[in-house]
Amino acid sequence: MKDMEVTVIENREVIKDHFLLKAKVKGRIPAFRPGQFVMVKIQGPQVFLRRPFTAYECEKDTISILYKVKGVGTRVLSKMKRGEKTFILGPCGRGFSITERELYVVIAGGIGVAGVNLLIKSLKKNVWIFFGTSSSSNLSLLGNLTNYDLFISTLDGTYGKKGDVISLFREKIDDLKNKDVEIFACGPKEMYKSLKDALLKYRLPCQVLYEERMACGMGLCFGCVVETLDPKDPIKRVCYEGPVFSLWELSL
Ligand SMILES: Cc1cc2nc3c(=O)[nH]c(=O)nc-3n(C[C@H](O)[C@H](O)[C@H](O)COP(=O)(O)OP(=O)(O)OC[C@H]3O[C@@H](n4cnc5c(N)ncnc54)[C@H](O)[C@@H]3O)c2cc1C
Ligand code: FES
Repeated sequence: MKDMEVTVIENREVIKDHFLLKAKVKGRIPAFRPGQFVMVKIQGPQVFLRRPFTAYECEKDTISILYKVKGVGTRVLSKMKRGEKTFILGPCGRGFSITERELYVVIAGGIGVAGVNLLIKSLKKNVWIFFGTSSSSNLSLLGNLTNYDLFISTLDGTYGKKGDVISLFREKIDDLKNKDVEIFACGPKEMYKSLKDALLKYRLPCQVLYEERMACGMGLCFGCVVETLDPKDPIKRVCYEGPVFSLWELSL
C-alpha cells in the first residue's frame, strides 16, 4: 500500500452525477488486483476523512475511478479540475479471487459497474455480464464493456428487460446449474439479499464486493465492520478482510 501524489488529468461527467476521474501518479503505480480500492484525499476544509473507491482502470502511471455523487465528499471531488493535485492511498483490501472456470457471470447494479470493470477486463473470455440500471440514459456507464455478452435490465423498461437485475439473472439460473461457473457481483446490499435468495437453489460460488462507510481504510479503526457467519470470528473489517467476500459467508 502506497500513498501516491496524483495530478488530475480528467474529471468528466459521464452521465448525470456520475464522473470518471483519471489521475496521473508520480512514478509507477503498484499492481492492483480487480476489486481492490483506493482511499482518495478530497482537498478542502469540508471533508476530513478520505473516501473509498474501487480502482476502475490502472495503466502504468494513471489510475481511474468511476464514481457517483452521493454527498459532500463526492460533490467536492466532482469539482476537481485538470492539473489539480491530491493523494490516493492504495491498493487497499483484498480483491476478487480468480480461478480457472468454464464461465464467469458478473452482476452489476448501477454504479456497481465501477467495482467490476477491472475484473471483467482481466477475465477476457466466457463472461456474461448482467447490468441493471434505472433507465436507458445510464447505459454509457458500461464504457467499452459493450463488447461482452450483455444482459441488461432497466427499472423503467426503456432498454432491455423491465425490472431489477436479479429478476433478469433469475431467468438464467437454471442454465448455470451444470456449468463450472463463478459469479461476481457489485451493487447495493438489497441486491445481495435478493441474489442470495436467488442462488439458494444451487448455492453456486459467488463473490461480492461489499461497501461500508470507512474511516482509516487500512484495518485500524474498526469503523467499517460487517457481520459474517464465521462462528469463531463473525465481525470482519470490510477494508481489511474485504471488501470482497463470499456471498455465503455474509450474514445478510
Ligand atoms: C470498498 C469500496 C469501494 C467503493 N467503490 C466505489 C466506486 O467505485 N464508485 C462509487 O461511486 N462509489 C464507491 N464506493 C462508495 C463511496 O465510497 C461512497 O459513495 C462515498 O464515500 C460517499 O462519500 P460522500 O462524502 O459523497 O457521501 P457522504 O456525505 O459521506 O454520505 C452520503 C450518503 O452516502 C452513503 N455512503 C457513504 N459512504 C458509503 C459507502 N461506503 N457505502 C455505501 N453508502 C455510503 C451515506 O450513508 C449517505 O447516505 C465504494 C465504497 C467502498 C467501501
Ligand atoms: S475503515 Fe478503519 S478498519 Fe476499516
